[in-house]
Amino acid sequence: MKPTFVILAAGLGTRMRSSRAKVLHRAGGLALVEHVVRSARGVADADRIVVVLGHQADEVKAALAPYGVRFAIQTEQRGTGHAVASAREACGNDSGPVVVAYGDSPLLTTTTFQGLIDHQVASGKAASLITTVLEDPFGYGRIILDSEGDVTMIIEEKSCTPEQKRMKLINSGIYCFQSDLLWKHIGEITPNPATGELYLTDMPEILARYGQKVTPYNVADSTQMLGINTRVELAMVDAILRTRKVTQLMLDGVTIEKPDTVTIDPDVEIGSDTVVESFARILGTTRIGNECRIGSGSIVKDCSIGDGAQVEAFCHLDGSNVAAGAQVGPFARLRMQADVGPGAHIGNFVELKKTRFGAGAKASHLAYLGDASVGEKTNIGAGTITCNYDGSKKHPTTIGNSAFIGSNSTLVAPVQVGDSAYIAAGSVITDPVPNETLALGRSRQVLKEGWVARRREKQKQGQ
Ligand code: UD1
Ligand code: MG
Repeated sequence: MKPTFVILAAGLGTRMRSSRAKVLHRAGGLALVEHVVRSARGVADADRIVVVLGHQADEVKAALAPYGVRFAIQTEQRGTGHAVASAREACGNDSGPVVVAYGDSPLLTTTTFQGLIDHQVASGKAASLITTVLEDPFGYGRIILDSEGDVTMIIEEKSCTPEQKRMKLINSGIYCFQSDLLWKHIGEITPNPATGELYLTDMPEILARYGQKVTPYNVADSTQMLGINTRVELAMVDAILRTRKVTQLMLDGVTIEKPDTVTIDPDVEIGSDTVVESFARILGTTRIGNECRIGSGSIVKDCSIGDGAQVEAFCHLDGSNVAAGAQVGPFARLRMQADVGPGAHIGNFVELKKTRFGAGAKASHLAYLGDASVGEKTNIGAGTITCNYDGSKKHPTTIGNSAFIGSNSTLVAPVQVGDSAYIAAGSVITDPVPNETLALGRSRQVLKEGWVARRREKQKQGQ
């Protein structure tokens, strides 16, 4: 019996004080609702996951497009019970259990979802719900148990008596229902007298009327239940998700210095014996090989870094490749498909944009290479600039193998420099330079002998 998931994600999240829907806020490198969908995917097929949308439905849909899940629309947010009822049609008529989860509780793991489903199926009862004990239960629904340990009632914070407020067993908001009983009775929820909303938390009482039991599934790791209502909780959850990722990487053989300062997105892959220094940010779909170094304060997003490559401190790498054994930085910038070849060297204050930089080539200081191709073993002198933009269009610069570009050269694109060509320092190059040729593109030096003495003399006379 395959489970179906209903993930509630229609609310605005007033306490976030944001114009964005709460489930789109990001923690641990993903929108909140993505974490829930990923954990659900561990136990359910994509087409058995129904996400209930309301506020900013199109944006939430777009964020979830890669996952292939289904959607239901809750046009008016009339409470969690109403939200689940809105998913009725999209859920179809499967007889397997229905798990209800919240898009704003991103720490639940696949293992916990599986545990809940197993508990529910084994119990044979109408429903199970995840409970936990919280030292500070403020804001959560409190659970009332009967003498046999089944759930008789869930009381929301707003409706709690002072005595009930002291109860620490809380409702995580994650349930697993027998599908037929859920759909048969969901329509019996009546508006809460205090708020007018339809609370899913009324279900235990409703089911009890028919002699049906709801059993608690207590999970000791209460951090998993953290639901996000404010940005303070968002930051806490982000820290937990980041810690999970770096912990896994360290167990897999990556050295991470001061791990609480490092930010690594969930889909990043890093090979063993790579060292990640403090304050590095490794984001998106980045893949890093073995025995690399990612220097302190560097940001590496959607990049591939080959084995043994060294990215020194304070680099910014985005959508680029660094091949095995290459060295980049400190203070280098690679963007838009920059491609640094094996063993190449990109030094400080060098920027590469859409540039293929050959094996063993070097640009050690202060250069801009845009829309360029640089051959193997070529040396780019300090201050070299490719003038790739004429004010309306971008143009390419092609430099061959083993060429030498003197310092402070200006290469006005489109332009080609051949293999083993030499460009004299300070040149402005506007025409092609053939192989093995020296190009000088600057005016000759003029010497004025005795000029200093003559000037001194003049100045004296003027006094
Ligand atoms: C809810 C529970 C509470 C539990 C807590 C755990 C109810 C009435 N209360 O309270 O017992 O301890 O979660 O975090 O269920 N949503 C919709 N449509 C709606 C209303 C809400 O989709 O009409 C979605 C929200 O987007 C959110 C989730 O349901 O993802 C929970 O809503 P929220 O308002 O945060 O409920 P809590 O007050 O946290
Ligand atoms: Mg909540």
